[in-house]
Amino acid sequence: MKNLIDKLEKEHILAQSEFEYLINNRDAETDEYLFQKSSALSRKMFGNKIYTRGLIEISNYCKNDCYYCGIRKSNACCERYRLTKEQILFCCKTGYELGFKTFVLQGGEDGFFNDDRLCDIVSDIRKQYQDCAITLSVGERSYESYKRLFDAGANRYLLRHETASEEHYAKLHPESLSLKNRKQCLYNLKEIGYQVGCGFMVGSPYQTAQNLALDMLFIHGLQPHMVGIGPFIPHKDTPFANEKPGSLELTLFMLALLRLMLPKVLLPATTALGTIAENGREKGILAGANVVMPNLSPKNVRSKYELYNNKISTGEEAAESRHLLEQRMKKIGYELSTDIGNYEGF
Ligand code: 5AD
Repeated sequence: MKNLIDKLEKEHILAQSEFEYLINNRDAETDEYLFQKSSALSRKMFGNKIYTRGLIEISNYCKNDCYYCGIRKSNACCERYRLTKEQILFCCKTGYELGFKTFVLQGGEDGFFNDDRLCDIVSDIRKQYQDCAITLSVGERSYESYKRLFDAGANRYLLRHETASEEHYAKLHPESLSLKNRKQCLYNLKEIGYQVGCGFMVGSPYQTAQNLALDMLFIHGLQPHMVGIGPFIPHKDTPFANEKPGSLELTLFMLALLRLMLPKVLLPATTALGTIAENGREKGILAGANVVMPNLSPKNVRSKYELYNNKISTGEEAAESRHLLEQRMKKIGYELSTDIGNYEGF
């Protein structure tokens, strides 16, 4: 085990069978050895600074029907909302005053936000906040659409690939969605010039160690600038309501492997991680994560953007509680950064 971790640290890649072996044979001793290395590397790359991103959940309308997701089209219990341009701009204003220099506009695949409307919003944010990054996370779109949004001023894009196995992908999504298209979108985004984030859920139904090993290899091939991972958490109004959640431990383990494989990658300690365990995000940081994404959405919509049950939304993950998050970080020896937090070289 330790020799494989040493190898990953040195060569930044392993064979699929080696990743699989590591994932299948975790124990407390390996965890400790790995986390010590991943956290030291993260410190070396980023010091004790944690980048912050303000997350604005612009719409929970979605045309897709992913089996795991609480805002899937077929969920009739989901109370739908969509922010207006004015509301989005107000979130940015609040965020800017709180010290955020990245705004992440995230939403379901909502047809209302066509290119004209979204470009209009992006270009207004760009005009008002020239020293900020605009990250989009609004799903699969055409090359032309991604290009228009980029030209309007967006500079980063988050699109989780969810799983790099065709077979597993088909167990999580309806037929209308394909891994092939998802991957193509990621490569298109990179080509256009975005800083790109892919990612996956840990412990999603039917996931195997082999699937996770394939995720590592796909990510290595893509060489993304960001990778978002978090545990799967069931949502009661989805086909996966009775599936068991992903584990904190395996999520931390995958974060640490990602850090060793991609030393410079921007790696968030996600809301889902903070939801499954008290201090989950702190643990994520100690395993190698270097980004947190507090919620900047208007308070009255936060509970409606429920991708999974019990999503934390009113406590210390809220953007307006920046000082509380700061204290949490201090306790583990880290500080929140007000830097824009680009990937090195951008
Ligand atoms: N549990 C954890 N993460 C989820 N996501 C969607 N549904 C769930 C869930 N039930 C993640 C997906 C998606 C991101 C926005 O949220 O990976 O890409």
